[in-house]
Amino acid sequence: MRKFSDPLDLASYRKSLKNSVGFVPTMGALHEGHISLIKESIKNSDNTIVSIFVNPTQFLQGEDLDAYPKKIEADLKICELAGVDAVFLPNIDDMYERDELKITAPNIKGFTLEGFNRPGHFDGVLQIVLKLFGITKPTKAYFGKKDAQQLFLIQNMVKHLFLDIEIISCEIIRQSDGLALSSRNIYLSEDERVKALLLSTALKLATKMVISQELDSKKIKNKMQEVLKDTDIEYIEIVDREFNLLQKVEIKNTIILVATFVGETRLIDNIWI
Ligand code: PAF
Repeated sequence: MRKFSDPLDLASYRKSLKNSVGFVPTMGALHEGHISLIKESIKNSDNTIVSIFVNPTQFLQGEDLDAYPKKIEADLKICELAGVDAVFLPNIDDMYERDELKITAPNIKGFTLEGFNRPGHFDGVLQIVLKLFGITKPTKAYFGKKDAQQLFLIQNMVKHLFLDIEIISCEIIRQSDGLALSSRNIYLSEDERVKALLLSTALKLATKMVISQELDSKKIKNKMQEVLKDTDIEYIEIVDREFNLLQKVEIKNTIILVATFVGETRLIDNIWI
């Protein structure tokens, strides 16, 4: 497995690759969720590149940038064992100039939900993803459905900037008790982990309501709120796949999302219906 930290070295390695390239951007602390993206890429592309970069521009002041879990050695092992061809581990100075070009996420869909609670977060995500796409020029790039709004905004960026990249969305990976995998789960104490299960419990309840023909968003959200009452809810929302708010669930065109604090840890989860 090749390792690169200089973007220009990786770009020239990329140029030497004649066949398809799958790209999996990550911030490291890899877990089964990332591994599923990597496996998907290896299955479907001739070459797979993984980036590991805790991108400072997508963190707001006061967020966990400095504390963000770092496990470089373990991450490299995981990539190697999975069969990744190249890992990109840039430094901040390799990726950003002092006087840097800015990307702004769309005014409405980049500043609702995650964007409302973390204004500017998606500007940073789109900025780094665009740079990484520029370096790796992937045929396909893999993103998890857990970050549903991120996935939507990246799909839109690719479409609106006419980038020749196929965005592949991958299913959320959960532990056997339902907890969606996240690098931030390691912040949870034992008691908090039990509370964190309420996210998937609320989403399961919402799914059951839909199955029994209750499609009214308000009623579903009220029930979910009851389940999550012992957490510090930021939002529970029901949107279509274009992130427009829905009064009524539309089968095969709906995402139900939740963001809540369990203790100090902010968790998100969602279900696609
Ligand atoms: O989803 C993430 O881990 C990050 O937002 C990404 C896409 C790697 C950009 O930093």
